[in-house]
This record gives sequence, structure tokens and C-alpha cells, in this order.
Amino acid sequence: MKERVLTGIKPTGFSHLGNYFGAIKPAIELSQNEDLDCFYFIADHHALTTIKNKEELREYTYNIACTWLACGLDPEKVTFYKQSDICEIPELFWILCNCSAKGLMNRAHAYKAIVEKNLECGEDRDYGVNMGLYNYPILMAADILMFDAKRIPVGLDQTQHVEIARDIANCFNSRYEELFTIPESFVEKETSVLVGLDGRKMSKSYGNTIQLFTEEKVLQKTINKIVTDSRMPGEPKDTDNTICKLYKLFVSEEKYNAFANKLCAGLSWGEAKKELFEVMNNFITPMREKYFYFQSHREEVDKILSRGAEKAKKLAAAKLSQIKTAIGM
Ligand code: ADP
Ligand code: TRP
Repeated sequence: MKERVLTGIKPTGFSHLGNYFGAIKPAIELSQNEDLDCFYFIADHHALTTIKNKEELREYTYNIACTWLACGLDPEKVTFYKQSDICEIPELFWILCNCSAKGLMNRAHAYKAIVEKNLECGEDRDYGVNMGLYNYPILMAADILMFDAKRIPVGLDQTQHVEIARDIANCFNSRYEELFTIPESFVEKETSVLVGLDGRKMSKSYGNTIQLFTEEKVLQKTINKIVTDSRMPGEPKDTDNTICKLYKLFVSEEKYNAFANKLCAGLSWGEAKKELFEVMNNFITPMREKYFYFQSHREEVDKILSRGAEKAKKLAAAKLSQIKTAIGM
């Protein structure tokens, strides 16, 4: 059997450059390797922890689906599906709940961060926490273990979840039978944490993202919002800033060095932002066209996803039946 690669993105907002460089691009590159068997999906069950509106969930789901396709996912090579189309996953989730220590969930970053914030504000520790959020890592383990995925391309923030999936798999394997492959996260070092407009990690939750597919004018306006220091045109600037970090992603080393030299020689922030827009826009334009094509041909997207679901479901049903036999059902 070929080594299996699996990753998911939750439809909780519009895809941004952090998603692209941290998760989508490395995953697409892996899918071009003939020795790997890739499973990429839209984690819509996971999105329920934050999205409570029907229309939003639908729009974000199409956004993520069209994004993957625009960025080069080839549905002939990759099994591409929606998590909610595979009803075996929540069933496995329940079984795995019984291999998951509650203490392990208490230590999961997302939950811990909310508890810490609640305690700081003098609230009850679990204020605003629902069981979807609390159990999130176990559902993610079900996504991964169901398909015997070995390599999980994710951004740095998700590596703890992959560790939890390993713990759960080990617990099951030693209690019943060696049925699960032990997964490993695959993190692209250079782009594991991409910075956003304000210099912090780019994230929907910080509202500092640069959306991957917006109209050119909106992209330009967004780039103008990048926070810089107050050095004036003509004053030399160093390269430890968001503009340089982003610029580097889109050009060769040679072109980057030329840009950095101009900044050190006093290029204004305004000019630097214009140059950043140019390189970013050139890079994004061909993908943006594909993105809008798929957005206006949603029936094609539906077909692609249902073909992927059909394939994934067959495997999931067979695996679940093995699992149920192993536990005595
Ligand atoms: P967000 O933080 O904006 O809500 P998600 O949690 O939906 O993003 O992340 C989807 C994928 O993109 C994950 O694999 C995550 O690690 C990756 N990712 C998100 N933001 C970044 C970033 N700033 N740098 C690198 N990877 C990122
Ligand atoms: N939790 C991931 C995120 O927030 C999304 C996800 C769900 C995922 N299931 C997964 C990623 C399985 C990798 C493997 O981005």
C-alpha cells in the first residue's frame, strides 16, 4: 500500500495566505508524488464549533472547496471529500472517545487558552465552551485514523492534535488489536507560521489575514493596512518586517535580495507595499481565475466532492467494520 497523506481545513472563514503556504501548497506538492496516496477534505463538522449560521457554513464550504481546486488539487489523483459525507467518522469518533483520557483534552491548546482567559476574567473556567470544542481533537483523530494516514501536512498550531491522535491510536492498538497506523505531522519549516497584517500569526481569529482570493482592489487595500514603523522615505530600513517576510514567499532569492537592498537604501514603505502587491498579485492571478470559475460552476464542485466521498466512504465502511469486530461488536 502506498503511504497515505491526509489533511483537512475547516470552513470557518475565507481562505488566506497562511492557509495557502502553511497547509495547501505543501499538500498539493505532496499530491504530485506518485508514491503517495492523498486524502484531502473539508472539515465541516469541525467548523460547527465556531460557525452557527447555515448560510455562512455553506459559503465557507464552497470557498474552501474552490480554493483547493484553484490551487491545483487534481481530483483524479487526490481523494477529495467533505467530512460530513462520511458518516462512519462520527461513529469512529465515539469509539475513540473511550480511548481518550479526559486529562489529555484538558491540555489541548485551544481549550486551555479559553480556560485561561475565562479564569483571568473571573468567569467560570468552562464559560462558553461546548462539547464540540472540547472533543475536537478526538474527532480529528477519527479523521486521521479512519484512513490509516501516515503523513499529516499541517501548520505548527495543529501538531499537538496529531500528537493526540497518536496517543489515541496507541491506546486502541494496545488494548485491542494493531489496527491503526501511527500518524506523524508534516510541517513546512519555512512557512510554519506566516505573519499577518499586524505582525502576529496570520489567523482568522485575529482578523489580520490577507485573503487568498479577493478582487485586486481589495488585495491592494489590504496590503496597505500592513503595519510598519514610522521611518520616513529615504531613511534606511531593516528587513525584519512583515513586508519582507511576505515578499520573500513570492520571489526568487535573487529578487528578494534586490528588494531588501532597496529597503536598506531607503525605499519608502508605500513603494515597498506597491512592489509587494505586484508580486503577490502576479502569483495569485492565475489561481484567482480558476477560483472564480469553480465558484460559478458549483455543480462541478459538488460532483467532484461526491465522487471523492464515494471512494472515501467505501474505505471507511470497511475499516469501521474491522474496528467493530476488534472491539467485540
Ligand atoms: P485560522 O487560524 O485562520 O483559523 P485554520 O485553523 O483554519 O486557520 O487553519 C487551516 C490550516 O492552515 C491549518 O493546517 C493551519 O495550521 C494552517 N495555517 C493557518 N494559519 C497559518 C499561518 N499563519 N501560518 C501557517 N499555517 C497556517
Ligand atoms: N483541525 C484542523 C485545523 O483547524 C482541521 C482538521 C480537521 C484536520 N481534521 C483534520 C487537519 C485531520 C489534519 C488532519 O486546521
